[in-house]
Amino acid sequence: MVNYKDLGLVNTREMFAKAVDGGYAIPAFNFNNMEQLQAIIKACAETKSPVILQVSSGARKYANQTLLRYMAEGAVEYAKELGWEHPQICLHLDHGDTFELCKSCVDFGFSSVMIDGSSLPYEENIALTKRVVEYAHQFDVTVEAELGVLAGVEDDVVAEESHYTKPEEVIDFATRSGCDSLAISIGTSHGAYKFKPEQCTRDPQTGKLVPPPLAFDVLEEIEKKLPGFPIVLHGSSSVPQEYVDIINSHGGNLPDAVGIPEEQLRKAAKSAVCKINIDSDSRLAFTAAVRKVFVEKPGEFDPRKYCGPARDEMVKLYKHKIIEVLGSDGKAE
Ligand code: G3H
Ligand code: 13P
Ligand code: ZN
Repeated sequence: MVNYKDLGLVNTREMFAKAVDGGYAIPAFNFNNMEQLQAIIKACAETKSPVILQVSSGARKYANQTLLRYMAEGAVEYAKELGWEHPQICLHLDHGDTFELCKSCVDFGFSSVMIDGSSLPYEENIALTKRVVEYAHQFDVTVEAELGVLAGVEDDVVAEESHYTKPEEVIDFATRSGCDSLAISIGTSHGAYKFKPEQCTRDPQTGKLVPPPLAFDVLEEIEKKLPGFPIVLHGSSSVPQEYVDIINSHGGNLPDAVGIPEEQLRKAAKSAVCKINIDSDSRLAFTAAVRKVFVEKPGEFDPRKYCGPARDEMVKLYKHKIIEVLGSDGKAE
């Protein structure tokens, strides 16, 4: 049993309380490899932003849970080396789907876990979440739950249609499950194809897809029911067109990729939404930079020569999100 406090990590309780009061959101960035982690920590150290490092079950399979945990521990020291005196770094399980997986992460030094029972019937979601909360809270590990279904891929769970969170259920769900934060569905979804072209309009000038707005009315109703309660938005990548264009003009093929416009995320960050999940944008930044090197320097075969530029691009992306979208800069001096 390892307690996250011994690793220099923090849970989400204080982060979220400050974010709700301050009208900003904490970035939750997924990582699977060293370059992504280095880029996240560098961006957060340079902007003094609290951060949630997210590990999905896919990441655990890819990179090994032990390595990921030591990487997070190393990240705290790396942050200090970069001159960030009091790093606020949370290590979080993204989309945990069983009690056993959540328990294993709690026992292994994670400071926060998500139990995603959103595909279960309502009462089963409550019962599973409550079981995880009862275990995690013994060690002061915070728990995120999900109510409502996002369209798209959540690890092994694929949903064709999204179902918005029902505001009339949130008080009962939060009270009975005891969760510390709640992920809701208001129109975001995972991946780089968040909307089908037929759900969008086309900008007549550029021909690019313009997605429909998020359901802010549902968010407002949820806020009224649970004032001050931390709300989480998954599937919040914006799918920057410049990365999609670089990928497509350097041998890639991402037709009609579309994300959530940044103005909408800015608006969400000022509300009860205090955690915004971003994974796909980092993948796009990485891929665009690597493809560019491969096309421009076909003789290059040293991974540092293409993973290095990819890392630099991700630092730029993360800093942009922190400063221009979430407003979390300067909140962890
Ligand atoms: O929720 C999905 C996250 O982007 C994680 O994706 O399951 O491919 O690691 P992954
Ligand atoms: P994106 O695919 O929009 O980056 O969402 C990531 C996410 O929600 C991770 O849980
Ligand atoms: Zn997610």
